[in-house]
Amino acid sequence: MMTLTEIERTLRALRLSGIAATLNTRVMEAQATQQPFLETLSAMLQDELDRRRSRLTEKRFKQSRLDERLTLADFDWRFNPKLPRQACFELHTLKFLADGGNALIIGKPGTGKSHVAKAVAYHATLQGFDVRYVEADTEFARFAVSSPQEQAELLRTYTAPDLLVLDDLFLARRIPEAAGELLQTVVHQRYKHRRSIVVTSNRVVQDWGRYLGDQTMATTILDRLMHRAAMLEFDGKSYRLREAAARLTTAPSAA
Ligand SMILES: Nc1ncnc2c1ncn2[C@@H]1O[C@H](COP(=O)(O)OP(=O)(O)O)[C@@H](O)[C@H]1O
Ligand SMILES: [Mg+2]
Repeated sequence: MMTLTEIERTLRALRLSGIAATLNTRVMEAQATQQPFLETLSAMLQDELDRRRSRLTEKRFKQSRLDERLTLADFDWRFNPKLPRQACFELHTLKFLADGGNALIIGKPGTGKSHVAKAVAYHATLQGFDVRYVEADTEFARFAVSSPQEQAELLRTYTAPDLLVLDDLFLARRIPEAAGELLQTVVHQRYKHRRSIVVTSNRVVQDWGRYLGDQTMATTILDRLMHRAAMLEFDGKSYRLREAAARLTTAPSAA
């Protein structure tokens, strides 16, 4: 018979680290309660399954490049009562991912557009979808200075996942020509393969042509984006300013 240490080593060699991690507890539990062997065995297998599932989830979260785990539960719907709450929860069901639907979240700064987009994206990672989150301007700039080989790889990470979030599109009023072409390629590719995009922007779509510097390009991009899209308008006051004001009033005086 193997010793406990040998069993643990064997479990790790067999890549059953979930069972190895709780082995001691399970052994003691079984001895203390005299539970039937099959009960212990199934508990051990469940440990392995749980561990694998949480590792996969962690991996998907990392791959998404989301910078925070936001949820709709942290959102205060009373703050901006005009927000399309129903439509946000509808997005959160992730039904739109099944047929490659898109969502455009357009509106005033600080009203929670990124929050909602990130919450939907995070939920999608938990549900097993591959997600890629990008801050549009930062990513366009990064793409522009990458080598052709890196660009091909980046392009794959924008087009392959089930969901792409383009956060704060046209934050800079004018995007470089190459970025416009990149946006067009990504939107076309994803449209062709029925893969979803969630865009957030402070800019109304009527002005996109101006920011792209090309009306025709804007039209072809919007055509595909809006073909199967939920339009969410975020009107209201900035939560950021409220937070800043709260900090000012609670900050110790500088005297
Ligand atoms: N109604 C809200 N309830 C709770 N937090 C909010 C709400 N609206 C915005 N926030 C928070 O305020 C900050 C700014 O929101 P954000 O989603 O980045 O705005 P936007 O992308 O529309 O500019 C974020 O930290 C976000 O979590
Ligand atoms: Mg934002």
